[in-house]
Amino acid sequence: MQEITIRRPDDWHLHLRDGAMLKGVLPETARHFARAIIMPNLVPPVVTAADASAYRDRILAALPPGMRFEPLMTLYLTEGTDPADVAAAAASGLVKAVKLYPAGATTNSHGGVRDLTKVMAVLEKMAEIGLPLCTHGEVVDPEVDIFDREAVFIDTVLDPLRRRLPELRLVMEHITTEEGVAYAAAGGPNLAATITTHHLIINRNHILVGGIKPHYYCLPVAKREKHRLALRAAATSGRGCFFLGTDSAPHVDALKEHACGCAGCFTATNTMPLLAHVFEEEAALDRLEAFASLNGPAFYRLPANEARLRLVKRPEPQEFPAKIITEAGPVTVFNPGFPVQWQVDS
Ligand code: NCD
Ligand code: ZN
Repeated sequence: MQEITIRRPDDWHLHLRDGAMLKGVLPETARHFARAIIMPNLVPPVVTAADASAYRDRILAALPPGMRFEPLMTLYLTEGTDPADVAAAAASGLVKAVKLYPAGATTNSHGGVRDLTKVMAVLEKMAEIGLPLCTHGEVVDPEVDIFDREAVFIDTVLDPLRRRLPELRLVMEHITTEEGVAYAAAGGPNLAATITTHHLIINRNHILVGGIKPHYYCLPVAKREKHRLALRAAATSGRGCFFLGTDSAPHVDALKEHACGCAGCFTATNTMPLLAHVFEEEAALDRLEAFASLNGPAFYRLPANEARLRLVKRPEPQEFPAKIITEAGPVTVFNPGFPVQWQVDS
């Protein structure tokens, strides 16, 4: 039997939603993860420090008794965001990052940013105080092919922004391309990138070949195989600029299995066994801890967790629930499409 013990992991990009869905999905993350960067794309979004404080309270209230979990809050950047409110929220320790959604790029992003010049005062303040900006790195121009939107964002938005504000600390969220990997790797100490579990496992064929698979549809959409391989190499490299952000994004099945299905893969339940499987395949189990538990806290200037998580490889394939049942409705758990022998030992 193989096993590995790592510091308890954190998830540097997570959607917990609110209300009944929050209550249903929070234990799935808290079971294995100590902390997570909580995405602010609620309806309405988490825009002000007061919004973030109230949302944090709702998350902690939804945590089942006996479970420990620390939500790391973010603010949703709008063209009306007040730099002083952001600075105060960061100084108090409440807020750990600000999220840039180009307006229209993804779920609940319509209140995001259309014109970056309108948020420069906020970004300058963030650069000054060292507060990271998390970017959804896709352009929204309808002329740009959906498979090219990340690479075009890097060239036309991200690189010009970083040249203008090199001191801004920035996380390229959920990168999906070799261009994203290369840009993050060359970016120096103020730049990092998160990588999801599912983008290490699926390419675009998994979504489209043999019938459309709505539960594999997420944004940024999975790309061709060479990009998946570049992401695997990056995640298993041990390099400090790459760390786990699952982007676990629950939607009820009725809205995934729909004529206009929502984007998002729900991976909170089985991420750690899947990562152990992937890292073992890449002969990099010794680097799983860097990816899931060390590199993220180092970038966010937080201590690594003291608690540990033990993963064991069983002789037989392990069963995961196909769905979790929430009071909002059933949510399908990401199915990797291959048997997984790894299990979190609890
Ligand atoms: C996310 C969601 O559903 O909130 N969906 C997704 O496909 N990842 C939004 C996002 O992170 O783009
Ligand atoms: Zn996300």
